Amino acid sequence: MLRTTPEEITERVVASFETAPERLREIMGALVRHLHAFAADVALTPEEWSAAIASLTATGRITDERRQEFILWSDALGLSMFVDAIAHDLPVGATESTVLGPFFVPNSPLREYGAGIAARAGGDPAWVYGRVRSIDGQPIADAELDVWQNGDDRLYAVQSPDAPEEHLRGRFKTRADGTYAFLGVRPVPYQIPSDGPVGRMLAACGRHSWRPAHIHLIVRATGYRTLTTHVFDSTSEYLDSDAVFAVKPSLLRTFVARRPDDPETPAAVEGVWYSVENDLVLTPGEPDEPFEGDAIDQDTR
Ligand code: BEZ
Ligand code: FE
Repeated sequence: MLRTTPEEITERVVASFETAPERLREIMGALVRHLHAFAADVALTPEEWSAAIASLTATGRITDERRQEFILWSDALGLSMFVDAIAHDLPVGATESTVLGPFFVPNSPLREYGAGIAARAGGDPAWVYGRVRSIDGQPIADAELDVWQNGDDRLYAVQSPDAPEEHLRGRFKTRADGTYAFLGVRPVPYQIPSDGPVGRMLAACGRHSWRPAHIHLIVRATGYRTLTTHVFDSTSEYLDSDAVFAVKPSLLRTFVARRPDDPETPAAVEGVWYSVENDLVLTPGEPDEPFEGDAIDQDTR
């Protein structure tokens, strides 16, 4: 009797996708080949595969409208950043993109130039300002910045049951000369949700769950590719070991400490504050929405 080899199993499965539409056939065929090769590489045992299935099951159970554990796997395994990198092969000089993350909430309030985004105390004030321009140096008027960040309690408003819904987020338009400004707070490092299977994987592997301090931005402008990015505090802890691999050196910025008697102190600010200059350079092209698989649907908050 001829015996069936593992390779024959792989080929049979790949062949089963022959009737699929071209792109789906390509993706499913490659997925099967890579999955089977992975199992062969590590000599995956039935017990290990059962443990993996239990972890996937736990991932499904913990996922709901407010918690997306599948995306967290993608983030913690660096796949979110990898997919983003191959989708955004931007020209040199353009601001680099990075992960959207799970705490983006669409339809933030539209605010005036320089307005504050903190609806209650949330940390040391941080005046974030700069110019949005095209890769050829032209200022871009009427671009929209969608910003969100955590406060000094380490939480995004969407994670905090008692925070006002519009706390630490807002949308801003650039002025005719491309400039923008808003008053945020100095962000602090925080841990990605670690009470689920991703957290268990990190702990089992001796990895931590911290992200370095950052502010999120999405920049949209007619005639330009949409940019999803961060401003990282260049002095933050965890820049070298971000749990989701989202740090790019070009996105590090200095938060400059300013005194309360500084003549540029924003009106509502008392005490020490920070300023951070952050120009944003867009690439001409079609605007596209960021991948929102992990965005929280505002209607289900
Ligand atoms: C964030 O920066 O908000 C984030 C990104 C990936 C996973 C968890 C949080
Ligand atoms: Fe974040």
